[in-house]
Amino acid sequence: MRLLVTGAKGQVGSEFVETVAQKESSWEVLATDKDELDFTNRVEVFGAIDSFLPDIIVHCGALTAVDLCEDEVELAYSINAMGTRFLKQGARRVGASVFYLSTDYVFNGLGTTPYREWDAPDPLSIYGKSKLAGELELDSSDLIVRTAWVMGKYGNNILKTMIRLSKGQGDVTFVDDQFGIPTVVTDLVDVMIKLISDRQSGIYHVTNCEVTSWYDLTKFVFETLGADPSRVLPIATSQLDSSRKAPRPAYSVLDHSALRLGGYGETPIWQESVSCLIAQLRDSYL
Ligand SMILES: NC(=O)c1ccc[n+]([C@@H]2O[C@H](COP(=O)([O-])OP(=O)(O)OC[C@H]3O[C@@H](n4cnc5c(N)ncnc54)[C@H](OP(=O)(O)O)[C@@H]3O)[C@@H](O)[C@H]2O)c1
Repeated sequence: MRLLVTGAKGQVGSEFVETVAQKESSWEVLATDKDELDFTNRVEVFGAIDSFLPDIIVHCGALTAVDLCEDEVELAYSINAMGTRFLKQGARRVGASVFYLSTDYVFNGLGTTPYREWDAPDPLSIYGKSKLAGELELDSSDLIVRTAWVMGKYGNNILKTMIRLSKGQGDVTFVDDQFGIPTVVTDLVDVMIKLISDRQSGIYHVTNCEVTSWYDLTKFVFETLGADPSRVLPIATSQLDSSRKAPRPAYSVLDHSALRLGGYGETPIWQESVSCLIAQLRDSYL
């Protein structure tokens, strides 16, 4: 199996490449990020694909700064939508498929029950719209994994911020009216590898299990680290400062119907996986 990976220096891409090297030594991987392959450049994309001849393009690269996307609309569509079009065009030239990572932000979050893979998207933000545009570039031979609230050992993420805050003093505030499910990258990557091994196609939702709010997640992190959880105070989204331009879906819970019905079982509950990740990360913050 030959895999061309984009966004290989990002949070998910780094751990995906590392795990494949450990667990799937027969797979040949070309790991690329912006310096090696800018996928918004069609000529570069065709050159890389024509010379490496991948079976699958694992497209982890994206513009993920959701507030920046509101200001830089053309850039968001260039990276998240047009870049995906070029990769799909390149894939067609050599008979490869595309594995696209997508997001809970394709839904409006106004629902009250978990979103299934077949529910109609209705993104609120430019990030969500541009990621959905990327999905629409693909066809039924490709694979899409929508995930949410991603946290891993590489890159920046909200869990690292919470750990840092737990080591400080004073109160911290987190919203208690946005609900979702954390996704620990290790679990996400395990599922990605299974789906690739099985040559799967179609849309899958992959997060950990059990719903929480940002407020409850932060209290859990403080408790796990032995910090005082009463320092974490709940606030409403309407009280957040207005520099956060992108609207966030209030109910971002993804149901894993395709995993279950496809015989893959369920992912671990987030408490287990987040605890393991905290144990890995805590020393960096002592
Ligand atoms: N993080 C989350 O909570 C979350 C939630 C749901 C879905 N997702 C999706 O999961 C995927 C992986 O997310 P992540 O957290 O790993 O993102 P990330 O850490 O921001 O990594 C994305 C990588 O793509 C690179 N990139 C951006 N533009 C590029 C271009 N034109 N050519 C080549 N590389 C480019 C970035 O480089 P620079 O950093 O130099 O720009 C970065 O290394 C994305 O598709 C994202 O939409 C993420």
